[in-house]
Formats: sequence, structure tokens, C-alpha cells
Amino acid sequence: MNREDFPMLEQDTIYFDSAATSLKPKCVIDKMNDYYTKHTSNIHRGDYKAAEKTNYEYDSTRDVVRDFINAENSKEIVFTKGSTEALNLVVFGFLKNKLKAGDEVLINKGEHASNVLPYLVLQKQIGVKVKCVPLDDNYEITVDNVKKMITDKTKVIAIAHISNVIGDIRPIHEIGEICKEKGIYYIVDVSQSVSHVEVDVQKENIDFLAFSGHKMLGPTGIGVLYGKEKLLNETEPLLYGGGMNQYFEEDGSYELKSIPSKFEGGTPPIAEVLGLKEAINYINKVGVNNIRKHELELRKYLVSELEKIDNVILYNKNSKSGIVVFNLDGVFSQDTSIYLNHYNIAIRAGNHCTKMLKDELNIRNTCRVSMHLYNTKEEIDKLVDALRKSKDIFKVVL
Ligand code: ALA
Repeated sequence: MNREDFPMLEQDTIYFDSAATSLKPKCVIDKMNDYYTKHTSNIHRGDYKAAEKTNYEYDSTRDVVRDFINAENSKEIVFTKGSTEALNLVVFGFLKNKLKAGDEVLINKGEHASNVLPYLVLQKQIGVKVKCVPLDDNYEITVDNVKKMITDKTKVIAIAHISNVIGDIRPIHEIGEICKEKGIYYIVDVSQSVSHVEVDVQKENIDFLAFSGHKMLGPTGIGVLYGKEKLLNETEPLLYGGGMNQYFEEDGSYELKSIPSKFEGGTPPIAEVLGLKEAINYINKVGVNNIRKHELELRKYLVSELEKIDNVILYNKNSKSGIVVFNLDGVFSQDTSIYLNHYNIAIRAGNHCTKMLKDELNIRNTCRVSMHLYNTKEEIDKLVDALRKSKDIFKVVL
């Protein structure tokens, strides 16, 4: 779909690494170039024409994000440099002050480092207990398994909406209902889902939500933390400096601005915020449900073709996103990705920052194909063709 909008595709590249970072449509690049070439200025500091334009573009992005995830108000939208910073802000700006030793945090072995490590640090710092919800035989999360792990001490459930390796779409609505009923803080990382499926923070009863711009057709260096207003008011910033304070005095007194400004100390990534707005407008124009439909068709086709190749081991044939993970039997995943590079096919190989999943898969590294709206069946044919030929090639090499 819409391939002509993506300048990277003018090169002879087949890009199957959108879960690492997506390609960017020209309108996003143009929007950022416009800022640099036509109205460069800082925000909330200048009284001249360019600054007025930049202020408007920057501030109105919050409303666009609010509508995109159906937040109640724009104050609940905090700009960060990515989902990693957003998730760290929740853990160290909020949970650290709310939890005590013995409180339990539920994560799972399919989570990305950014949704695991902050909790492991918190465990060391204040003695909370981090527990993993078991995955089922398809390496997926089920509501039953979540329920089984909940005790009176469970205070937090942190989960990705779509996992970045198995690509399973988690039952976030049902888990949100449980959290609401039991008063558990509910933190959802939608980095892999927000440009692929609909996300609605109110419907899913999400307390905090995080995503990065660069996986959703936007720029690097920009992300979003959504938090319910009451909870953000109780969250401490991690960065102190200009733009986030009302005053400070020699006697040590100071007052911070209200949310969301109090979390955005220093000059923010202005061009990136504007690029994010354009990316969301673009996704809205294409329609997230159309993207979903397209990716499901591609997925079905890719899985059915891979199943015909006898040396392909598929790890997630049942999941329902544009992420497909596999290995060639007896071949190190990175060798496969280097081999595919000879055909100008870009995939990712490795553990994908999801280092505990090896305990479930019994293998540390996999090859991951991750698709977006611009991928096509013809590209899948080329990938499959290259994989078919690989058997003879690796036989000679190994
Ligand atoms: N989190 C990104 C990935 O899954 C980098 O590849």
C-alpha cells in the first residue's frame, strides 16, 4: 500500500524490519524539513512569527496524540524521547514512590528490555518482587495465566500490547478489566501496536501507556507517555531544568509547572514532535484498520509459503500481527540475515532485546520478519525464493 509515499523504497530494498524502526513517508520528512528551513525557533520562549508557528505546531500535536489514543485530555500526553524513557518515567517517577518491599509486579518472559529492566532495578532498590506470567504453548499470554499469578500483593501489571518477537496480540482489554477490579496499576507498551491496530486508553482502562514515534512511521528521538491525569499529577519528573519550572530562588524554594510541562525539562525534540504529528495524520488518513487488514493478508501468505520450505522452523505461526519469527534449521540466525542481505532483503536477527524469551523458545536467537503497510506479496515471494535457495548454499558453506 502507498509505496510511492516512502522515499526509502525508491532504492532496490526489501524492508522487513519495521518492528525495529519503520520507514518514514515523505510528508513526515517534509514536515521536519519545513521546521528547519522555514520556522526554526524554540518553543514557548519567542514572540516572533516563526516562534508562533512552532508553538502552534508543537502544542497542537498533543491534541492529535490525544485523539489518536482516545485520552480524555491533552494534559495526559507527555513527550519523551521514546518508549524506553516513558516506561522509565513511570517506574522511577511514580511506582518507586508508591510501592514498598514485597509488593508484586507482573511482567512476562516475552517482554522487551525496556519493560523488564526498570522493574529489575526497582526490585534491587526497594525490594518489590518481579514475577513472570507463564506463556502458553504458543509463547503467548492468556488471561487465565495472568489470573493465576495475581495475589493480594500484586500492585502492577506491565505488558506490551503486541510482543516484539512472538508478535502476539495480548488480551489487553480483559487484563485491563482485572486491573480495574483489583486496583492494580496497568502499564501497557504499545510501541509495536499503535500503528497496526486501534489503541484506546479509556476503553482498555490503561493507567500508563508508552510508544515511540519511529516505529509508527515517525521520526526517531520522540515518544509518548500517556498517564491518567491524577496519576501524572502524582508522578515526579526525572529531568529538572528550563521550561518545566515556575520559579526557583536562592533560598532553595522552587515550584514546578503542572503536567505535562513538568516532565519536559530542556528544549524538547521540536522537529520530531512535528514529525510525529504528521505520522499520526498520515496513519489516520490511510486508516489503521486498512493497515491491519493488509498486514494480516501478508502474514497469512508469508506463513503459508514458509510452511512449504522444509528447513524453516517457524516459532509463531498462530500469532496475528505482521511479525513472523523463524530459523533455518542448523543455521545461525545472523548468518541467515547476512545471506538475505545479498538479495537486498532486510530482516532482523538476534534476541531482539527480549532476552528472557530464550527460556521458553529454547533458542537464543531468531530471524524476524516484521511488516508494515508498504510491504507486498511480491516482496514475500522474493524472500521465500531466497530462503528456498538457501538450503543448497548453506550446504556448500557449512
Ligand atoms: N525494539 C526494537 C525491536 O524489536 C528495536 O527490534
